[in-house]
Amino acid sequence: MEVIESAAQMRAWTSRAVDDGGSVGLVPTMGCLHDGHVHLLDRARAENDRVVLSLFVNPLQFRRNAYENYPRRLEDDLKIAEGCGVDAVFVPSVEEVYPCMDSLAGIFDLQDGASRDRDPDVFTVDRVGVDGGMDYVRVPGRLALKMDGAEHPWHFDGVATVVRLLFEMVTPSRAYFGQKDIQQVAILDAMNRWLGTGIELVQVPVVRADDGVSWSSRLVLLDETQRAMAGRVAGQLERFARKPEGGRIIELIAGLMEGVESIDTGSCVLEIDSVVCVDPVTLEPLEWVKSPAMLYIAYIIDGVRLAETRRI
Ligand code: PAF
Repeated sequence: MEVIESAAQMRAWTSRAVDDGGSVGLVPTMGCLHDGHVHLLDRARAENDRVVLSLFVNPLQFRRNAYENYPRRLEDDLKIAEGCGVDAVFVPSVEEVYPCMDSLAGIFDLQDGASRDRDPDVFTVDRVGVDGGMDYVRVPGRLALKMDGAEHPWHFDGVATVVRLLFEMVTPSRAYFGQKDIQQVAILDAMNRWLGTGIELVQVPVVRADDGVSWSSRLVLLDETQRAMAGRVAGQLERFARKPEGGRIIELIAGLMEGVESIDTGSCVLEIDSVVCVDPVTLEPLEWVKSPAMLYIAYIIDGVRLAETRRI
């Protein structure tokens, strides 16, 4: 397994693989790998001749505090990657990914400039930074400004910008993303079509632990009691995702919120951040229960924000 830090070496590695007639599957991650990532890597392994894992904690999609506190476990990640038969791990630095941004502060400043004022329907780019600059992708308002983006209009611009750059650096045949992050995957799918990359974007169904909680790097931040709470929230979501088609969404959501609010939280603080039921492609909120639909809850346990998605 090769560990590659530079974009130029990464491009050269892929072009050698493709010259040999091989396909390359990319699994983009921010590290701190868990079973959900292993599932993505297994799928990429099964469908491609070569597998690249990228590990990059992207400052453009976090506030500074969350960026600095994001869990990082490079040694463990490399062992997991090796065990999954990964051929190359791409671990670029912030300078390598964003050579036109002269400081981390400049990256966080971009977020402050990313207002709600944007095209509602079309992807656009702003040219930012020094030395000729780079494209900062602005995600259409109808996708970016709801759900997780409602309070942070810059978040999905940061995700889209880095994934576009990773696509350019790795130039894979296929890229794998988990459906757990339903808004992220809908946005990246739309961006990939807009860019016409020719990369096949593969959406992989959610993987859950035995207690029904979907895998997330933030789970390592929970203690046993908090984790039990996450299991109960997941249980409520599962219960309400089984409701028959034809009912009113407003009632489904009220029932789910009541179910979560009735959880005995002991000494933990459990807050609901948002609950929605949306179309999986347009992310438009639905009025009536139908299939396919995505029931989504974002919630906070003692300051740790988590999310669960269930397909109806
Ligand atoms: O889902 C993630 O881990 C990140 O948002 C991604 C897609 C790797 C971009 O930084």
